[in-house]
Amino acid sequence: MSESLDFYKWFYNISSKLGQREISFKKIFKYLDSLPSPIIIVETGCLRKKDNFLDGQSTLLFDKYALSRGENSKIYTVDINPEATKVCKEVVSKNVEVTTNDSVRYLNDLSSNFLKNKTKVSMFYLDSFDVDWRYPYPSAAHHLKELVAINRILTKDTLVVIDDSPAVGNLTQNENEPGKSWKILSSPSPLPTIGGKGFLVHEYASHIGAKLVFSHYQAAWNKFNK
Ligand SMILES: C[S@@+](CC[C@H](N)C(=O)[O-])C[C@H]1O[C@@H](n2cnc3c(N)ncnc32)[C@H](O)[C@@H]1O
Repeated sequence: MSESLDFYKWFYNISSKLGQREISFKKIFKYLDSLPSPIIIVETGCLRKKDNFLDGQSTLLFDKYALSRGENSKIYTVDINPEATKVCKEVVSKNVEVTTNDSVRYLNDLSSNFLKNKTKVSMFYLDSFDVDWRYPYPSAAHHLKELVAINRILTKDTLVVIDDSPAVGNLTQNENEPGKSWKILSSPSPLPTIGGKGFLVHEYASHIGAKLVFSHYQAAWNKFNK
């Protein structure tokens, strides 16, 4: 209990530095609070710059959170860039297993191991492969491949979060305040949906009836396997 208070004391001190990710990180920790210990988090794309909270500092946040949830809670992170994993190892505690590899290959191997030793993952945080906002397909396809690699170990409660996935929609200027505010067009389809890194995962999630848990700058789903 007191470790949990220590985490939130630390987190609320730095949370305003997280910019547009502040709200969704709060939603992530609230969701994790509702899950039983141990908390197991698997991340793709690790912290790559010390103190750069505008990138997320996700590995550091998850490290601090897992430490507050007892000794069997643990973080696994992977990044293809050895420079990034080197920086990450210098910043986080020994409770984080940092691996240099391609994320899809890594997640596939990890899923086989976790299936064998019955490790239940609380959350996957997918944040590899930077997105080109004008051409998000390569990044979105990579994150869909990551989902394919982990699909067999997703339980109904496993939260899958993808960074850089804000809602997108067809908008028009609001006639009363042209240029200042916008309204959502009800036609043409599609209505607002998830964009960025998570847009293909969201299409898949919608097809199979997975649940969108929240949509902010980051998007999160569960119930991929009911
Ligand atoms: C946006 S950064 C991660 C930021 C980090 N999550 C944070 O909050 O500070 C994306 C990272 O994904 C890594 N990356 C790109 N392609 C990858 C791949 N195929 N496998 C694993 N990592 C990859 C990059 O090297 C980069 O460090």
